[in-house]
Amino acid sequence: MKTITRVVLNILILLSLSLVSLNGFAQEAQHEHHHRHLKYAKIKNPIAKTEKSIAQGRKLYEEHCIACHGEGGKGGIGPELTSSDRIHGSTDGEIFHVITAGVAGTKMKGFKKELTEEMRWHLVNYITSLNKNEINK
Ligand code: HEC
Repeated sequence: MKTITRVVLNILILLSLSLVSLNGFAQEAQHEHHHRHLKYAKIKNPIAKTEKSIAQGRKLYEEHCIACHGEGGKGGIGPELTSSDRIHGSTDGEIFHVITAGVAGTKMKGFKKELTEEMRWHLVNYITSLNKNEINK
């Protein structure tokens, strides 16, 4: 084999190897992002999803969350909140946990000090009401 052919072949092999590893990284990053918090999934929502609770949650949302999550949870700086396929899991307990503890290393801070536990559950009730598949959960 001529040297030039060998060099070209080597370059091709290196290129395809790096593509494979890049692809691997991309998948890993996504996996790391979409994850559940099963420990918190079991927490029971103590507040019924009544119209009154949802309205209270909506008011709190408009005061504390709308700047990042947009009107009606349509998203902005923070992710949209209307889909049932959420980054941190979609059970009431998991949503409550994110609102309480925040997400380290992101703009999502925890609201444990700022909002009472009851207020955080009203927020869960409002957020889940944005997805019509979840309202009766
Ligand atoms: C300063 C901007 C900001 C504010 C204010 C904010 N959030 Fe967030 N929120 C974010 C960001 C950014 C994320 C995404 C974190 C990540 O990368 O996982 C997030 C994530 C979330 C998630 C998880 C979404 C998912 O797909 O799993 C929920 C639920 C949530 N926020 C609710 C709220 C509620 C309720 C409030 C108000 C009490 C609020 N956020 C206020 C920026 C904000």
